[in-house]
Amino acid sequence: MDFLKQIDLSNVPEHIAVIMDGNGRWAKQQGHERLYGHNFGVESVREVLKGAMELKVKYLTLYAFSTENWNRPKEEVEGLMDLLVRTIGGEIDELNEKGIRLMTIGDMNGLPDSCQVELKRAMELTAHNQDTTLILALNYSARWEIMAATKRLAEEIQNGTLTADQIDDKKFSNSLTTVGIPDPELLIRTSGEHRVSNFLLWQIAYAEFYFTDVLWPDFKKEDLFKAVIDYQSRERRFGMVSEQLTK
Ligand code: IPE
Ligand code: IPE
Ligand code: MG
Repeated sequence: MDFLKQIDLSNVPEHIAVIMDGNGRWAKQQGHERLYGHNFGVESVREVLKGAMELKVKYLTLYAFSTENWNRPKEEVEGLMDLLVRTIGGEIDELNEKGIRLMTIGDMNGLPDSCQVELKRAMELTAHNQDTTLILALNYSARWEIMAATKRLAEEIQNGTLTADQIDDKKFSNSLTTVGIPDPELLIRTSGEHRVSNFLLWQIAYAEFYFTDVLWPDFKKEDLFKAVIDYQSRERRFGMVSEQLTK
């Protein structure tokens, strides 16, 4: 089945966010350690990025490591950080060839130095690309992000450069690490879990959710297309009634 043909290319989300879940269970099913699943997960990232580019999705945000993920066994955390450094380093040419800009959201200062250096280099070298922006959520927690924004705004009030009245939706959005990035219209979570796990809490206020049982290492381009087809069957009402919506 050619899922791409079923997609209305004039109504594709500008921003798709993905909670990539199920690497560990996938590895276990194959009789391997969890890291084996994370390694294979990188292949799915490539696939989904390719699919997003075919659909001309402007922003693709991938939840790669949550602040809570530090609580995992040490070997797994170290393995993930190592994988991150190796993958980013090896992909820069490819990203540039395809016109992909790399960005991150989350608390980069909390990542190991080697990761920070590699990410900074990759972001600088791809900063000029304009086709698709790949946003990696690393050491990310939505509550941390919201609290950090609140603190920043409180400081501005304290030093007299802002009044409480001036805080509105836009001002608050601009204080988050996603500043300048439109809210995702579609949020995908793989592996059959139906939760948000501290991801983009502010930004997904009106996102459509798509859940699939597919484990992340099995998630391919066609699965992304299926999610977009499902998205296109939804009616996004934003609090209004059906009759008010002009198609
Ligand atoms: C998602 O897969 C990847 C990360 C959280 C880094 P998991 O590692 O959570 O896989 P499961 O959920 O244990 O199967
Ligand atoms: C969410 O997956 C975080 C990432 C995909 C990076 P988890 O596997 O960590 O989430 P929980 O623990 O099942 O909620
Ligand atoms: Mg998981």
